[in-house]
Amino acid sequence: MFQRMATTELERYEGAATIEKVAALSRRRAFVFPSSDIYGGLGSTYDYGHYGVLLKQNVKGAWQRAMVQEREDIVLLDSAIILHPEVWVASGHVGGFSDPLVDCRTCKLRFRADHLETSQCGRKPSKHPGETPDCDLTEARAFNLMFETHVGPVRDDASVAYLRPETAQGIFINFKNVTSSMRVKPPFGIAQIGKSFRNEITPGNFLFRTREFEQMEMEFFVPPADAERWYREWIELRRQWYLDLGLRESHLRVRAHEASELSHYSSGTSDLEYLFPIGWSELEGIANRGDFDLSAHAAASGTKLEWIGQDERYVPHVIEPAAGADRATLAFLVDAYDEDEAGGERRVVLRLHPRLAPVKAAVLPLIGKDAALTERARALFEDLRRVMAVEYDDSASIGKRYRRQDEIGTPWALTIDHQTLEDGTITLRDRDSLQQERIALEDARALLLERLDAPWHPRA
Ligand code: GAP
Repeated sequence: MFQRMATTELERYEGAATIEKVAALSRRRAFVFPSSDIYGGLGSTYDYGHYGVLLKQNVKGAWQRAMVQEREDIVLLDSAIILHPEVWVASGHVGGFSDPLVDCRTCKLRFRADHLETSQCGRKPSKHPGETPDCDLTEARAFNLMFETHVGPVRDDASVAYLRPETAQGIFINFKNVTSSMRVKPPFGIAQIGKSFRNEITPGNFLFRTREFEQMEMEFFVPPADAERWYREWIELRRQWYLDLGLRESHLRVRAHEASELSHYSSGTSDLEYLFPIGWSELEGIANRGDFDLSAHAAASGTKLEWIGQDERYVPHVIEPAAGADRATLAFLVDAYDEDEAGGERRVVLRLHPRLAPVKAAVLPLIGKDAALTERARALFEDLRRVMAVEYDDSASIGKRYRRQDEIGTPWALTIDHQTLEDGTITLRDRDSLQQERIALEDARALLLERLDAPWHPRA
C-alpha cells in the first residue's frame, strides 16, 4: 500500500477560488455555459464556449503528448461509443455498475445511499436526507448507471445497447487488432480520449460530476510479474504530469484504496486526489486490473486475447491510469483562479500554465484608432498566429483589455505604442508578475516560443 505523498497536507482549499466563482467566470468569459440554457437548463450538463474548448483541447493535447509523443511504447485508439452489448456483460457493467439508491417518499427526491451525509433534504436543505421526522426513505436498491438506447428500427430487448460508461472496454476488445497491426510488445499501452456517459444519481459541483464527460484512459499491458512495479511507476508519472502543468503540490495527494473500496477487477487502486474547494476528491484513478478484462473478454467472445512471444505465451496484466478531461480542466481552472490588485483595481486572473492557456499572447495597439500603431500590431499578430494561439484587440482602454486577457489566462500581452514607431521596441507585459519589459518587436516570436517551452513555476 502507498503512503500519501503530499508534502504538506492541507485540510481546506487555500486560495481565492470557490466552485461558484469559477463557474461564474467560466460563463462570463466563454469557458463553460450551462447547457440548454434557453429551455431552462438541463441539470449538471454543460456546453464549452470558445476559451473552454481551447483550454480542454490543451489539457487533452498535453495528455496525449505525455502518453504518446514523448514515449515509444504507447499507441492511440478511438473506439466507438456504442459497442456490442455483450461487451458490457463480460466487463461486469450490466451486472454490477450500479450505485445504491434511496427514494424519499415525502419529497420524492432520490439520493445515493452512500452520500446521504453530503446530500440536502428536499424540504429542509439545511438537513441531510433522513435527518428530519418527515423524511421517509426507502431501502437502498442498486441503480445501474449505464444509459440504455436501442440500435436499429425495432425497440425490443434484442436491440438494447448502451452508451459506454468508460472508454477502457473499447481498448480491451481491440487488443488483438492492435497487437497484430502495430509493432508493440509488452510492456506497451493503448491510449484513448473520448466521451463517456453515466446516469449519475447525484451529479454536481459544476464540471466535477456530470452525466456526459470525457475520459483520458490508457491501458498498459505488462508481463504479470512486472505489474506491481508498473503500477507504482504510473502513479508517480501521472502525479508528476499534473505538477508539471502547474497544479500546486500542496493541493495534490495520492490515496491508496482500502481493500473494501476496490472494484471487482482491481487488485490495487490509488486515487490522485486534488484539494478542490469542496474538499479532497478524486482527480484520476490508477488501477492494477490484473488479467481480469482480457480474460473476461476472451471467455465471452471465444477469441484468445494473450501475448505470444518467441518462447512465451501469457495473458498480460493491465495497469490503468484513468483520468477525466473535464475534471482535470476544472482542477486547472480552480488552481489557476486568483484575485489581486493591478493598477489600483481589483482583478481576477487565471494563472494557467502557458501551455494550457487558451491564448498565449494578446497583441494590443496602445491606441486603437491610430492607423500607424494598428498596422504594426496587425503585422505582428499575423506573424505570431502562424505558430501559436494569439488574439488581436484594439477595442476599449488598454486597462480593460489587460483585465480581459487576465481573466482568460493569457500569459503575455504585447503592446505597440509610439515608441515602437521610433525604435522598433514593444512592451511585453507578464500576467503574473505584472512586470513590463521593453523588447525588440522582431524578437517577439522567438522570445515567446522560448518562454512557452521553458519550465513554468506556479505559486507555492
Ligand atoms: N476505467 C476506469 C474508470 O472509468 P473511474 O474512476 O470511474 O474509472 C476515471 O473514472 C475518471 O473519469 C475519474 O477519475 C474522473 O476524473 C472521471 N469521471 C468519472 N466519472 C465522472 C463524472 N460523472 N463526471 C466527470 N468526470 C468523471
